[in-house]
Amino acid sequence: GAHWPGLIEHYREFLPVSDRTPIVTLREGNTPLIELAAVGERLGRGIRVWAKFDGLNPTGSFKDRGMTMAVSKAKEARAEAVLCASTGNTSAAAAAYAARAGLRAFVLIPEGYVALGKLAQAVIYGAEVIAIRGNFDQALAIVRAVAERYPINLVNSVNPYRLQGQKTAAFEICDQLGTAPHWLCIPVGNAGNIAAYWMGFSEYAERGRIRERPRLQGFEASGAAALVGGSVQPVARPETVATAIRIGNPASGSLAIAAAQQSGGAIRAVSDPEILAAYQLLAREEGIFCEPASAAAVAGLLKFGHEAASGSQVVCVLTGNGLKDPDCALRVSTLEVSPGLDPEVSAVARAMGF
Ligand code: F0G
Repeated sequence: GAHWPGLIEHYREFLPVSDRTPIVTLREGNTPLIELAAVGERLGRGIRVWAKFDGLNPTGSFKDRGMTMAVSKAKEARAEAVLCASTGNTSAAAAAYAARAGLRAFVLIPEGYVALGKLAQAVIYGAEVIAIRGNFDQALAIVRAVAERYPINLVNSVNPYRLQGQKTAAFEICDQLGTAPHWLCIPVGNAGNIAAYWMGFSEYAERGRIRERPRLQGFEASGAAALVGGSVQPVARPETVATAIRIGNPASGSLAIAAAQQSGGAIRAVSDPEILAAYQLLAREEGIFCEPASAAAVAGLLKFGHEAASGSQVVCVLTGNGLKDPDCALRVSTLEVSPGLDPEVSAVARAMGF
């Protein structure tokens, strides 16, 4: 097939761009749908499961889908700088796309709670990184206030162009599967992405490309579960190993709850041990290394998949790449790297158990 042009060009008819929009792209999107046979086997009853591995985007997360749109529109509006608050992935994507567009990028992060790979990305792409002694929710409140007062373009998911770009993941899943799945399992943090998927599935249904929309099954970390009661109930001190979704007051919370309810699905919680068990299962039995927040989607499926009808087709969104958070991988691993041995065959053979 033809070279993939990036998601804006591929889905241009669905997106608010024109001839005057300078498209800032790293050829994001077109990520693979990978069957998860071991997860499917655990569920049984003929249920088939796939991962939409959005960690294979150019900066390693689904944020690239939103950022190609947000930064293209910022450039069209002749902005000189972009700004975001982030648990890490948004800042990495904003930094990369701003670099490509020749814009300055400012990113506000919660000190001590951004995974190492994400921080490295923001820095190497040339973003101006500002850490606060506070959490993501506080950082988001600050950047919203700053963007109101100063001429700078906010690229968090409260920027509507972000969700426009992110909805293309739903299109891709339908195009790849040839139909919509019955269930879509997805991690929920600031709650923009689940809302974007609902927009995407709804538009495809309106255009007659799919017949039914999936039930959206959103999963928050239990230490940051502001949406599980059916209304937004902010968590003052969110805590979870999945730092990407360590968010206590999701900006798109109401949208997300409405989307899940309309779809016949729900937003529920998974615990840190459940998240880490799914994280390890994906790596060891499926050969897929995603970040802890992404594993929440699979943890939720393992926990609630008994509710799915026999023969269901389920897609789990793996939002970020495991390499983002190498510390977590090393922390949970029972297999350790051996200490340096003498460089001899006998020593190595002994270490292998022979
Ligand atoms: N998964 C990953 C890997 C994320 O980085 C995020 C959000 C989510 C899931 C949740 O998506 O916020 O749309 O519900 N990360 C944001 C950031 C908050 O700053 O990178 P959501």
